Amino acid sequence: MSTALSSAPTDVAPTSAAPLPSAILGTYKRPSPLFVRGEGVRLFDDTGKSYLDMVAGIAVMSLGHGDAGVSRVIHETLATGLIHTSNLYRTAPGERLAEWFVRHSFASKVFYCNSGAEANEAAFKFARRWARAQGHEQKVGIVSLRGAFHGRLPGTLAATDRPSYRQPFLPLMAGVQIVERDLDDLRAALDPETVAAVIVEPIQGEGGVRVLEPEFLRALRELTHERDVLLILDEIQCGLGRTGHLFAHEGVGIVPDMCTIAKPMANGLPMGAVLVNEPVAGAMQPGDHGTTFGGGPLVAAVAEHVVQRLAEPALLAHVREMGCWLHGELTAMMQRTGKIRAIRGMGMMWGIDTHEPAAAIVGRAFERGLLLVGAGEHTVRLVPPLVMSQAELTEALVLFEASLREE
Ligand SMILES: Cc1ncc(COP(=O)(O)O)c(C=O)c1O
Repeated sequence: MSTALSSAPTDVAPTSAAPLPSAILGTYKRPSPLFVRGEGVRLFDDTGKSYLDMVAGIAVMSLGHGDAGVSRVIHETLATGLIHTSNLYRTAPGERLAEWFVRHSFASKVFYCNSGAEANEAAFKFARRWARAQGHEQKVGIVSLRGAFHGRLPGTLAATDRPSYRQPFLPLMAGVQIVERDLDDLRAALDPETVAAVIVEPIQGEGGVRVLEPEFLRALRELTHERDVLLILDEIQCGLGRTGHLFAHEGVGIVPDMCTIAKPMANGLPMGAVLVNEPVAGAMQPGDHGTTFGGGPLVAAVAEHVVQRLAEPALLAHVREMGCWLHGELTAMMQRTGKIRAIRGMGMMWGIDTHEPAAAIVGRAFERGLLLVGAGEHTVRLVPPLVMSQAELTEALVLFEASLREE
């Protein structure tokens, strides 16, 4: 074992166990225990310790771990022997899933890919293709907002407002501009001759769980219509049920030109998509974009099952109800402990600003068997499985409060 490997960073926060050497490239700090099993809203490590999961693989495992329906679909699809054919050919699960989205959203067509960043990169290309198809050679600009996170690939990183992520990799994709979350600034930035699209997260996730005001989003929709600029909604983290609506924009009452989704789409299998409206779909030609793996039969079959479950009215009602309840509980905790500066969120997506650095609280919670994740230096984020019950959420809040108080 080389020293380079054994000195790789492994801890997200101080834990008592000695770090395990890891041959995985050190792009993440990870605590030392190995997770070996998942069940419902809990994960188990190799010592048998259980962890209540308020992270859900970062807003991915919306149906929880070891879901019987998801396992059944995986097994049934494996039994067909059809896991991958490439996008040179049609397969039934991908076709059915796209039809489902066309029936249940504004979309007229669906593009599949494997991750959130890939979905946003594709949406940027589609926006430029749409502008060129109209004969606008200079209309290539992409505008994103202060606090945005859209991914870590060259185009999406250019649209991501995190200097420490960007700086080591400059120059990023040209033509991308980050603008304040302010309508006057957006009015000044959206030049119809040079800007093809604006990309917005209805709730900024990595940027600290910032819920954009519905009035702001509605005014932005109007402005983009006026300026002939496409509106891309990045619902990779906040979409597919997390706000208590299938799509976050349904709760706001706006219709985008494109919507990107990923994280919970196949409950842990890599899957993303761009939902596009008719004008965008009409601009795309064979050969304009591609992916070897995107939307293969296994992931598409699982996604077909998952999105139908996430669209169930009873589940969405549960998320809305738990959202109201969490708001009350977190407000009371803020008053009781004096350790919280602000809370923001809705449904099953909450950001809690703390006086102490979030990493310290996340580390102590981990020791207590509670999984939390930060969203910026002083924000703890709660993005649990959407199926988490009120009793399980109560258990999580008790552990969270103890971790907060332990400073
Ligand atoms: C809003 C948003 N967009 C894009 C991404 C990138 O997704 P991925 O990590 O799957 O590339 C993320 C990931 O956290 C996200 O939260």
